[in-house]
Amino acid sequence: MSRPSEPLLRCRGITKRFGGVVALRDVTLEVEPKALVGLIGPNGAGKSTLLNVVCGLARPDAGVVELDGRPIAGLPAHAVTRRGVGRVLQIPRLFPTLTVEETVRVGALFGSPDSLGPAGTARRVHEALELVGLADRRTEPVGRLNTQEKRLVDLARALAGQPKLLLVDELMSGLNPVEIQRCTALLRRVREERGVAILWVEHVMDAVLGTVERVVVLDHGAVIAQGPPAQVARDPAVVEAYLGVDFQAAEVAG
Ligand SMILES: Nc1ncnc2c1ncn2[C@@H]1O[C@H](COP(=O)(O)OP(=O)(O)O)[C@@H](O)[C@H]1O
Ligand SMILES: [Mg+2]
Repeated sequence: MSRPSEPLLRCRGITKRFGGVVALRDVTLEVEPKALVGLIGPNGAGKSTLLNVVCGLARPDAGVVELDGRPIAGLPAHAVTRRGVGRVLQIPRLFPTLTVEETVRVGALFGSPDSLGPAGTARRVHEALELVGLADRRTEPVGRLNTQEKRLVDLARALAGQPKLLLVDELMSGLNPVEIQRCTALLRRVREERGVAILWVEHVMDAVLGTVERVVVLDHGAVIAQGPPAQVARDPAVVEAYLGVDFQAAEVAG
């Protein structure tokens, strides 16, 4: 167990190269238990790569990743999942012929290793589907759902594994303002009702800045700013990196 003052996730000096491309350079960041932290930055900044390094889909060339004070960098993805890290992919990779419920059950079975039994598994699956609002679609094959519904199934799948840390990659691209509000409220509930810490990559700037308590900004693979949203939005280096994006227009919560 981590004490409240200890970070749940700690990344120190993470560097990741793809051939000549340095996707991450010396990235250090922490996520406290039950925190909601935004990770933003221009296209190609390294956001998805950082999530991949944390969840075991990519191995860093240098640096340390710790969950609850134990190193996880280099572990295979399924082992990281069992340690309590859930991941919602930018483009969900789901089996189209499995039903919504079957997909989420896979998440429950491959998540945190406490022995559940069939009744416990069914309850966990149902709770996750209720939370994302897809309980009445549970018998439908995933292939019949639209993109956003697929993302929500993927979120339910990750939640059914009882993660301590949820990594969310662009849940909101292509959504209208009403859907964005609904989705933001959902992430807040996940944090508040489940006590799950969330590291959230999103391009919809006002949604992120209006929701999270802390934001980390990546540019060209490096952290260029971090802090409360209102402070980061005024940071000249951030405004520069986002040239053309009107940060000040965003409804930034105090
Ligand atoms: N598997 C890969 N092979 C080669 N280059 C990659 C790979 N994944 C990411 N990159 C490169 O790393 C950089 C960061 O990419 P990415 O993490 O996807 O950025 P973001 O999610 O912030 O848009 C980009 O230059 C991208 O082209
Ligand atoms: Mg990305």
